[in-house]
Amino acid sequence: MVVAVKILGLSGSLRRDSAHSAVLRTVAEQLPASVALLLYELHEVPPYNEDLDGSAPPAAVLALREAVHRADAVLIGSPEYNHGMSGVLKNALDWISRPHGKSTLTGKPVLTFTASPAFTGGVRAHQQLNETLTAIQAMQVAYPQIVIGSVTSKLEGGRLVDEAANAFLMDGVRRLVQLVDNRPA
Ligand SMILES: Cc1cc2nc3c(=O)[nH]c(=O)nc-3n(C[C@H](O)[C@H](O)[C@H](O)COP(=O)(O)O)c2cc1C
Repeated sequence: MVVAVKILGLSGSLRRDSAHSAVLRTVAEQLPASVALLLYELHEVPPYNEDLDGSAPPAAVLALREAVHRADAVLIGSPEYNHGMSGVLKNALDWISRPHGKSTLTGKPVLTFTASPAFTGGVRAHQQLNETLTAIQAMQVAYPQIVIGSVTSKLEGGRLVDEAANAFLMDGVRRLVQLVDNRPA
């Protein structure tokens, strides 16, 4: 089966045992054969510096922008740090948002989720993340916010094992793929 839809997975956590990376891996394993999810590491992305964002940006930034360009859709998970999205993710999105008016994320179908050990599930970071994506003019999936509360008890062996949370998430992913399918050629 040919892969028809390529999803880029971005985790806003660099932590080895990250819940967000675990959720992305769980999604990847449940996709139909025609859809693939590639988990992209943000470890190498330097702090945003407009002085470096000219005609020759850092190689890690070019690679990140190219990965977004090549993807049909993007699935983003962010931790909530002090009521906001992680600095790692915001930094990556700031790089991706440029050059101004030519971001590879503009018009791209995007779905977002947050997870947290708290019952609030990172909902404040989720709101902020969606606001930033609005600034970049990404094509956000119209879907209720995917926030996974008490995530620690919903993970096992590096996978999301909570049936309700997983079903809700996967329905969002299905709509993300649908958005790609309905995109004008
Ligand atoms: C600096 C810091 C700030 C945090 N602030 C919040 C917060 O405001 N709200 C929340 O729900 N969890 C907060 N947490 C807990 C994170 O939700 C938790 O560490 C989560 O597992 C991080 O995601 P990860 O597992 O993908 O690394 C914070 C954690 C850290 C390290």
